[in-house]
Amino acid sequence: MSETPGVEIHDLSVSYSHRPVLWAVDCDFSFAEITAIVGPNGAGKSTLLKSILGFLPLSSGYVKIDGADAAEQLSQVAYVPQREEVDWDFPVSVREVVMMARYAGLPFYKRPGREDKEVVQNALAQVGMEEHASKQISQLSGGQQQRVFLARALAQQAKVYLLDEPFAGIDITTERKMLSILEDLAASGAAVVCVHHDLNTVSQYFHTALLLNVRKVAFGPAAEVLSQENILKAYSGQPRTLNEVAERLKQRQFIKRED
Ligand SMILES: Nc1ncnc2c1ncn2[C@@H]1O[C@H](COP(=O)(O)OP(=O)(O)O)[C@@H](O)[C@H]1O
Ligand SMILES: [Mg+2]
Repeated sequence: MSETPGVEIHDLSVSYSHRPVLWAVDCDFSFAEITAIVGPNGAGKSTLLKSILGFLPLSSGYVKIDGADAAEQLSQVAYVPQREEVDWDFPVSVREVVMMARYAGLPFYKRPGREDKEVVQNALAQVGMEEHASKQISQLSGGQQQRVFLARALAQQAKVYLLDEPFAGIDITTERKMLSILEDLAASGAAVVCVHHDLNTVSQYFHTALLLNVRKVAFGPAAEVLSQENILKAYSGQPRTLNEVAERLKQRQFIKRED
């Protein structure tokens, strides 16, 4: 197994209109592991995934994917957005959603071929959604919609999988089934990273955890990260953390940490 991390995050800071939401975050997400990102609402968890994907300008730091500039590796990163960010009324079928993962690697004049169709079919089978392939995504239950987005990620056959609360609002059977698919992905060498909302299952489901609240509170083996001390730090200190960061920014009178 390669020593190069799937995702290397160095000194990452991100601001929305001059308000820092991530501050000097350092951590690596390894290949062949499932990592949880946990932290209170507004901690910057979704922002961290979007920063890895290059959706947002960075105030400082960098992200590398498999040792290379993230921008050059985006086809190797599969992303499942948080439920709330998807327009579930968009008129598109289950099969088309999953096929989108295959278009990314095609030149604009090419249509998906037999292999692409096979990959899509297999991904749908893996999540148990083949018989719903022709349905519109608006017709599905919440759990089925989550499974379709997981299938889309699988069809991309990436090295790195970023999932934003994939288990939110689904029943426990679907959750366990999705988890076992993610475990298989990690076992086959991928770096799998999930924003996870349920602190009770973190050490059971994940090898590694990043506890985040604007800053990195703790990172390491999941059971160690979720010590009472760390949880208190992350969940009760939120306003203080933000104020402190804002104060530092004011003193330095600039947003960027690296100019
Ligand atoms: N597009 C945006 N514009 C301005 N502020 C945003 C935007 N997206 C998120 N935020 C703010 O950034 C902070 C972190 O958000 P987010 O990364 O979504 O947190 P989490 O996923 O941990 O709940 C929150 O305070 C949120 O209100
Ligand atoms: Mg979020």
